[in-house]
Parts: sequence; C-alpha cells; structure tokens
Amino acid sequence: MGKSSKDKRDAYYRLAKEQNWRARSAFKLIQIDEQFDLFSYADPSKCTRVVDLCAAPGSWSQVLSRILIKGESFGRRAWVEKMEQFRNHAVADSSETNVEDLAKTTNTLNLERATSELKPRQNVKIVAIDLQPMAPLDGIVQLKADITHPSTVPLLLKAIDPDFDEHNETHRVDLVISDGAPDVTGLHDLDIYVQSQLLYSALALAMKVLRPGGKFVAKIFRGRNVDIIFAQLKLVFERVHIAKPRSSRASSIEAFVVCEGYRPLKDWTPELGDALKIPQSSTTQYTPSDKQTRRLRGDGVVELSFEDEESDPQRWIAPFLACGDLSAWDADATYKLPEGHTSLDPVQPPTAPPYKEALERRRIESGAYGKTKGRSKQAVT
Ligand SMILES: C[S@@+](CC[C@H](N)C(=O)[O-])C[C@H]1O[C@@H](n2cnc3c(N)ncnc32)[C@H](O)[C@@H]1O
Repeated sequence: MGKSSKDKRDAYYRLAKEQNWRARSAFKLIQIDEQFDLFSYADPSKCTRVVDLCAAPGSWSQVLSRILIKGESFGRRAWVEKMEQFRNHAVADSSETNVEDLAKTTNTLNLERATSELKPRQNVKIVAIDLQPMAPLDGIVQLKADITHPSTVPLLLKAIDPDFDEHNETHRVDLVISDGAPDVTGLHDLDIYVQSQLLYSALALAMKVLRPGGKFVAKIFRGRNVDIIFAQLKLVFERVHIAKPRSSRASSIEAFVVCEGYRPLKDWTPELGDALKIPQSSTTQYTPSDKQTRRLRGDGVVELSFEDEESDPQRWIAPFLACGDLSAWDADATYKLPEGHTSLDPVQPPTAPPYKEALERRRIESGAYGKTKGRSKQAVT
C-alpha cells in the first residue's frame, strides 16, 4: 500500500504524521484518557510518576512528555479549554465594543486567538522500556530490556529512583501503561496466549512499583477466556474496565484493560512469570469489597468469589466502554484526502527494526527480493 493510499484508509496514520506523533497509537492513549482521566487533571500531583512498558517507537511516551512535562492538552480536553478561552476573549472584547461588534466577534469564532494554557507538572518522572531501541525523548529515562525477564525488575526500580525501596511509598509510581504486543503470527490462539503473557509480566512489574490507589492500563487481545484475566485483575484493583478507543480498529481483537485503585495484597509482591500466585505464608483471607471475597487456596492460588455470582467465581466480565469522542475519526473508514494533500514521511522511522539485517544484506548484494546479481549469475552457470 502506497503512503497516500494508507493516508486515505487510515485517518489516524495520517493525523499522527501531521501532529508529529511517532505512531498512531498516541490517539489510543489520548482517547482512553478522555474517558478515564488517567492523568488526574483535577489534582495533577496525583499523576507525576509514570512507567511506559513496551514503549517503542515512543508515541505513548510522547503523550506523557507533552501532557506531564510540557503541560499541553489534547483531544476533547483541549477543545473544551480552547472554547473557554474563546468565551473569555469574547467577554473581554464586549467591554470595548458595542453589542453589534460583540455579535460579530462571536460569529467569526476567532478560535485562532484562543489557545489552551500550558500546565506543566512538578517533579515528573517517566521511565520507558522496550526490547527495541528507541530514539531519545526529552525528560524520559529509556531502558532497552525485556519486560518478561526477571533481570528487568532491578533495572526498572533503579531507573525510577536509585534508592527505590519497596516499603517507601514516596518512591512508588502513579501509573503504569503497557502497549506490549508480540509479533503476531496470525494463529489467533497463539497470539492471544503470548499477548496474555506480556500482560501478566506488565502486571507483575506494575505491582512492584505502583502506589496504593495507582492505575494500570494494558493492551489485551479479547480471546475466549479473557474473563479469567479480568477476574485476576479485579483481585488487586478496585475498578477494572475494558476500553476500546475509537482509533483502534473495530475489526481488531485489541482492547485495553483500565484498572484503577490499586490495592496491594499484604506482605506479597509477585514475581515475573508467576503474577498472581500468592505464597501460602501470606494472609489467607482478603475482603476488598462487600461484593467480592478473595480466598487463598491450599496450592497458593487466589480464588475469587462474588456475592451475586451464580456460576464460576474465577470468571468475571469487565464493563466494556468505547472511548474517544463520537465525532472522532473512524479507524475503519476510508476518507477523501483534503485538497492539495501531501503525504508526509513517518515522524520516527524504526531505529533498529527486526528486518534491518535483511535490508542491509539486500543493499550489499544490490538486488531486490532476493534475486541478487550474484545469485542470478550462479543460476545461469
Ligand atoms: C505496539 S508497539 C508499542 C507502541 C508504543 N506504545 C507507541 O506508542 O509507540 C509494541 C511494542 O512492544 C514491544 N515488546 C514486545 N514484547 C516485549 C517484551 N517482552 N519486552 C519489552 N518490549 C516488548 C515491541 O518491541 C514493540 O515496540
């Protein structure tokens, strides 16, 4: 598919380039934030320390940097702020002009004059991790590491704070986000399984670093037994929702779990690869809410039961929320390109894509599609 054709078929791909995002995924995070207030705008001090897992090429990190460090606003929030500014301008103008002029000013909707005010936050800390190297971003600590590997835990704790102490609340973070995706094979069951393992690793890391009350957002593939994962997330978070941003194609099984109100289990933190298996020495009974009971089984696995659950207590359906403004672009639609449209290059080409070596070899052999000069000569002889 050519660049221009892709611009037409994928409005978010085009907008990402026009708005300087490294990937169209930026819009997913912005739309989830519109619905769930991820960044706690009412009390900005509640969201200043964030970990971005599986972050390359870095569009989610860009969103974090622009909202938390620079203090910009996006999406519906930016529009509301702009309209407020405009209203203030119109009222200010009214003192100098007569009613007719005010009506004229209002009708012209001089939105150009209205810009939302920057609200940078204090003491922001953002750590981004990915298997792939990522081009640098201002104010973001970047680690090249595998989130499923235990050696990543000390690296992450050190990056958040060299003196990180699990018992010290001040070192903890407010939000962990993970957009991790494996290289999909097209074999749905396998892809869903690998994706769920990434999610458990992200969760295990989140539980090591989140403050009580903190939030966790992660990509999930909606497979057959996804309700078991929801039930497990509900063990450690007060509220769990499943969100489908408008920028995520309806035809894709991708969605995002949005977990709010982290409640650590007493005397227990998970290990990677064993996310929700609690040692027997831990407290045996948890009663997080009057509707739900957590009970430790003899084999160390936590069992959930809900007051109003009739069938299997290990399964739970999370409320599903579509998010992003209804007037937002439809990720599955093809749009006519604006008059005089020029297709832009991607903002940040991959720094070390897995296919880099293949491209390099092809360049050296100065051929295309494997039919190199050398090989065709060999074929002739
Ligand atoms: C969809 S991309 C993330 C896009 C990113 N959120 C953004 O906005 O630019 C998925 C990323 O997951 C990363 N990933 C997959 N498995 C991983 C692992 N085990 N550890 C760290 N990163 C991983 C991939 O390298 C890839 O960069």
